[in-house]
Amino acid sequence: MNLRIPGPIPVPEDILESMSNPMINHRGTEFKDILFRTTEGLKSVFGTESSVYILTGSGTGAMETAVVNTLSKGDKVLSISIGTFGDRFGEIAQIYGADVVHLKCLPGTAVDVDEIRNCLNKQPEIKAVLVTHNETSTGVANDLEAISQVVKKEYDNKLLLVDGISSVASLPTYMDLWECDVISTASQKGWMLPPGLAFVGFSNFAIEAYRNSDMPKFYFDIGQYEKYFKLGQPPWTPAVSLMFALDLALGQILKEGIENVYLRHKEIGEFTRHQVREIGFSIFPDEKVASNTVTAVNVPDGFKAGDLIKFMKNNYDIVLAAGQGELKEKIIRIGHMGRTTQDDIKPVIEGLSKFISQ
Ligand SMILES: Cc1ncc(COP(=O)(O)O)c(C=O)c1O
Repeated sequence: MNLRIPGPIPVPEDILESMSNPMINHRGTEFKDILFRTTEGLKSVFGTESSVYILTGSGTGAMETAVVNTLSKGDKVLSISIGTFGDRFGEIAQIYGADVVHLKCLPGTAVDVDEIRNCLNKQPEIKAVLVTHNETSTGVANDLEAISQVVKKEYDNKLLLVDGISSVASLPTYMDLWECDVISTASQKGWMLPPGLAFVGFSNFAIEAYRNSDMPKFYFDIGQYEKYFKLGQPPWTPAVSLMFALDLALGQILKEGIENVYLRHKEIGEFTRHQVREIGFSIFPDEKVASNTVTAVNVPDGFKAGDLIKFMKNNYDIVLAAGQGELKEKIIRIGHMGRTTQDDIKPVIEGLSKFISQ
């Protein structure tokens, strides 16, 4: 099967095999070595000197971790949404009692930083900005560097909380350089792992915010992670098998060099979009903001995404993703995170081309 959804992604054979290693004591020295080594590796990929915590959970848990550890009830936050995952970030903040101001952009577009500036000027009491780096639901990458230039350089003391779930380890992300306060990501994306682990980077400013935060938290309380990390342990029983896999995958990513990983994603993103256009399909977002981890393709008039997806599965054993929410029948999404090659994409193009010509 050619799994081409934007996560989970196909996991390389050697990484899968590493998960069948026998269990070890998660409070013993062997685990301590893995925890320290993987945390250092994660810091290097995040581009941060501050803290990265490894959680057992999915990306949504990492988003929740960002919110509950830095905010307090009643805090005014700006939630930028360019799709369903942006909506989710705002919803989490709202459920925990933040006063959420919504900046909702048209699906298929990236946020315009002038709009962020307008919101922050109009409501100076906004304490945090929540943003999705790469909106997997629409195949759009926001310009995180430009967003950070506004939020962190033009204003004082605002927290920048980033959903980097489908960007970190695939798209250029420099946590310290871009002054991001929290970045959340999850294992089933560019990390080349199965689902089940999530990683969150916290800047020193975010850790200061933690000390004043009154939102309820237990499983995702980063104070617990910090306390146990000093002992070389996680606070709760971790997904030990996934930690073996993380250790191996990170070693491979670092050996290749993170800049080379970014370059590969750029090349496969450009290749995919070019091939899609060649056969007469169009890309949902504008090329300037199109993501290099997932390509959202418009379903031609008169066709339905559901039928196209069935056709690809039945005839080519290729699994594609439909759109989400109002885009369900309008777009399909082709994932190309991790070690995707042109040979993985070519059969997708062949199938799409057959589908419209049948
Ligand atoms: C950008 C983005 N945010 C959040 C999520 C939610 O992550 P999870 O499904 O791992 O909870 C996803 C998952 O696809 C995502 O791509």
